[in-house]
Amino acid sequence: MSQILLQIDGKEVEATKGMTILEAARKAGISIPTLCHHDQLEPFGGCRLCIVELEERGGTRLVASCVYPVANNLIVRTRSEKIDRIRKMIIELLMAHAPDAFELVYLARKYGADRNRFEKEASFCIHCGLCVRYCAEVKKKNAVGFVDRGIRKEISFIPEIAATECWNCKECFPLCPTEALQSAFMLTRALFEPKSASAQLAE
Ligand code: SF4
Ligand code: FES
Repeated sequence: MSQILLQIDGKEVEATKGMTILEAARKAGISIPTLCHHDQLEPFGGCRLCIVELEERGGTRLVASCVYPVANNLIVRTRSEKIDRIRKMIIELLMAHAPDAFELVYLARKYGADRNRFEKEASFCIHCGLCVRYCAEVKKKNAVGFVDRGIRKEISFIPEIAATECWNCKECFPLCPTEALQSAFMLTRALFEPKSASAQLAE
């Protein structure tokens, strides 16, 4: 494995070829916020919360650290006025969906985000895709997916698959940063397994 040397926040960091900037930073004890990243899943690059600045040719460039590969002599900054401003805006946009989500509330405090900056959205889902990707990549079941597109994009369980695979699995539940997945599950179960719906609601 070839060793790579880069600089993150002024610290010399050793990484191996194929690692992302996020992995190299975490290995060196440098924290970068993420929402759509999960160690067991393929890099996705959806939420952009993990953006960092690369210094190059006298300027800077923003990249998503969870998908950007390490390279020799990269100079990376994980915090700056610009990065913090963008993260704050991303958090505010996501809080329009889930203003009380624990992770978002924590991030809002850290980046000074205003949970009421944008008009509230009907759906709690922030489209991180963790549930969909976990079910597809780890469980290989594809029991949960997105329906519709754009602002109408919504999470949904596939009833025929959920009926045989999900009732006793629920491994994706702890991954959801909001309550959207649990709500979608309850709805599916109430619609497709009416007898146990009340029992499920009481759980
Ligand atoms: S339901 Fe939760 S885990 Fe799934 S995409 Fe939406 S926010 Fe992410
Ligand atoms: S954690 Fe990198 S884009 Fe979401």
